[in-house]
Amino acid sequence: MKEKLQAIREEALSQIAKAVDLDKLNDVRVSFLGKKGQLTSVLKSMKDIAPEERPAFGQLVNEARAQIENMLDETKKKLEQQALELRLKEEVIDVTLPAKKNNVGHRHPNTIAREEVERIFIGMGYEVVEGPEVEYDLYNFEKLNIPANHPAKDEQDTFYVTKDIVLRTQTSPVQARIMERGELPIRVIAPGRVFRSDEVDATHSPSFHQIEGLVVDKNITFADLKGTLEQFAKELFGQNTKTKFRPHHFPFTEPSAEVDVSCFKCGGRGCRFCKGSGWIEILGCGMVHPHVLEMCGIDPEVYTGFAFGVGLERIALLKYEIDDMRLLYENDARFLRQF
Ligand code: DAH
Repeated sequence: MKEKLQAIREEALSQIAKAVDLDKLNDVRVSFLGKKGQLTSVLKSMKDIAPEERPAFGQLVNEARAQIENMLDETKKKLEQQALELRLKEEVIDVTLPAKKNNVGHRHPNTIAREEVERIFIGMGYEVVEGPEVEYDLYNFEKLNIPANHPAKDEQDTFYVTKDIVLRTQTSPVQARIMERGELPIRVIAPGRVFRSDEVDATHSPSFHQIEGLVVDKNITFADLKGTLEQFAKELFGQNTKTKFRPHHFPFTEPSAEVDVSCFKCGGRGCRFCKGSGWIEILGCGMVHPHVLEMCGIDPEVYTGFAFGVGLERIALLKYEIDDMRLLYENDARFLRQF
């Protein structure tokens, strides 16, 4: 028995020494110390030994077991350390490599143009307000002097949510909403999205943006309107920009005008950009119609006002010389990064 124990011990120690990784080491542990292991089976055969020899033999077995366990522990630590070193070597991080580029987006030309227009009017003391994109027919048309069956309603054919609710065709309904609040004087601009059932082409989209302007106070005249928009055009397109007011018709302003600016590309001589005319149309405007003031609870005998509406995409296209409106909606980063 003693010889057998000695042989098991030596075999165990030699196998431990040869174990090349933690898995192999564990196999060795199981094959000697496991439930069916060789050392365990020696313990089980103790019953065959004479009772007086058992204590001494038991001690020998325990010593052998302790020695094997010790060597297992030490070897395990050594192999773990080796495995760690190997992993550190393999997973080395090269801190000198350039970092992955963090792609932050880019402001859209529409946004840049809107913020520019807002900056100009805030500088003149205007407040920026907003109105709903889903609007009552009442505000989008009726209160702007566009009653049912008015031909202007055809021009701004839109998407009806119900008979009385539309996707707004213009930012002008914000005028009525602000006037109804009854806080005078008023000096606001209202940027926002509008909708029309237009086919998509280089200059049309069923969804686009406008910026509305409204001033209501005592003694506001057409001269105030002209001065304001002249100043606006100069700040937006350059100090040499000239403005031209052409008579026009809008149901909610009287008199009404369309405003052209001198072509900032050719300075007004005429070029491909302004189609040879030297002028570029940029907005509609006029004095708020007395009937509109009245419908919104403002006394037209005491107060007057002016209003204007600019197409935001039009400004962006002109300012950045983009020749197709569709580019603004495709959100191709290669396009957007240019502005
Ligand atoms: N809402 C008009 C349109 O969409 C533009 C406009 C014209 C707005 C004259 C105004 C204005 O405030 O006074 O065609």
